[in-house]
Amino acid sequence: MNNPGIKQSGNQKRDINPRILMGESLECLEHYLSGNKTVIITDQRVHRLYSKHFPSSSEFIMIGSGETIKTLHTVEFIYGQFMNMGIDRTSTAVGIGGGIVCDITGYAASTFMRGINFVFAPTTLLAQADASIGGKNGVNLNGYKNMIGTINQPQFVLMDHSVLRTLPKSEILCGVSEIIKHAAIASLDMFSYLEQNWENALNLKRKTVNKLINDSVAIKSSIVEKDEKEKGERKKLNFGHTFAHSFEKVFGISHGEAVSLGMVIAARLSVLNGLLPEGDAQRLKQLLSKFNLPVRLVFEPESIIDVIRKDKKKGGDRIDLILLESLGKAIIHTISINELQEVIYDMCESG
Ligand SMILES: NC(=O)c1ccc[n+]([C@@H]2O[C@H](COP(=O)([O-])OP(=O)(O)OC[C@H]3O[C@@H](n4cnc5c(N)ncnc54)[C@H](O)[C@@H]3O)[C@@H](O)[C@H]2O)c1
Ligand SMILES: [Zn+2]
Repeated sequence: MNNPGIKQSGNQKRDINPRILMGESLECLEHYLSGNKTVIITDQRVHRLYSKHFPSSSEFIMIGSGETIKTLHTVEFIYGQFMNMGIDRTSTAVGIGGGIVCDITGYAASTFMRGINFVFAPTTLLAQADASIGGKNGVNLNGYKNMIGTINQPQFVLMDHSVLRTLPKSEILCGVSEIIKHAAIASLDMFSYLEQNWENALNLKRKTVNKLINDSVAIKSSIVEKDEKEKGERKKLNFGHTFAHSFEKVFGISHGEAVSLGMVIAARLSVLNGLLPEGDAQRLKQLLSKFNLPVRLVFEPESIIDVIRKDKKKGGDRIDLILLESLGKAIIHTISINELQEVIYDMCESG
């Protein structure tokens, strides 16, 4: 797949998408860094596992982990450390970690002294296939996800796939869910490849992981290139995500599990609206099941509908959802809450 995200220096295109150093080793990060001073932002786990490969000349700032630390409070702590270290507009901040580290680093760097350079070395499957691409950076506010943020691109993203081997299975599945999303909305070829290579993907076989991350980056980059500010096309990346955050919060499931359920609901609605052949919806369900991602709603339908209604409290009776016209082709479609309600009841009954 042609990858607009992977650019050679000297490329003439407007730099919406940063240079991607695909498959480069973390040990080589140092050679790509420029600027007077570099400061690494990371978390404890990543530091414990990989600090031996960090650029030796950089100072580092350690932040906590988990969504609860993705706050302005942590950003303020980082600003303070920047001040103590004498970071200025000639410096570069380097986020080494998962999506949380990348989102916070991008936001702190984009706002400190009205913006300093930053780069990412994402270390989770989700961060390599999704979060480090697209330029959205930010933090949560009062428990609401990504309420504060900027759209600003890093100088480059270095993706060392070998670090993924230390990820727990649950984190791998969060990445897989986003990879399946990318295939479902934009590439039948990638979808078929996943069907044939799901076991290799799950076991992080090098060739398979390289291809899937490369394809994911290509798909997300090309969508972002068309619509960086999310006026239309970029909304397709929300496939399966409309209620994901509420499902995570209320049912205590992971992001990957919530997205899996969201995609199954959206596929069902696509079939009922006469957009998607039933066979395609089944293929999506079967692929998710291969990874042991959930495809059945085992919660009380009333509680799910309650979550959806609260989530959409300001949106009136109709909502814009991302549906599928075929595997590999997404569209934005308006449906009624009643229709959604019927599908939820149906899915809770029939599984
Ligand atoms: N900016 C975007 O476009 C975008 C897109 C998707 C998600 N996100 C954000 O990404 C965040 C989730 O990111 P995530 O799933 O990477 O979670 P995460 O950043 O919380 O990382 C998960 C855990 O894995 C650990 N870890 C990281 N690398 C490891 C490695 N190589 N080996 C072992 N453990 C490792 C971390 O220490 C952490 O405990 C969310 O906050 C979400 O909002 C942002
Ligand atoms: Zn997601």
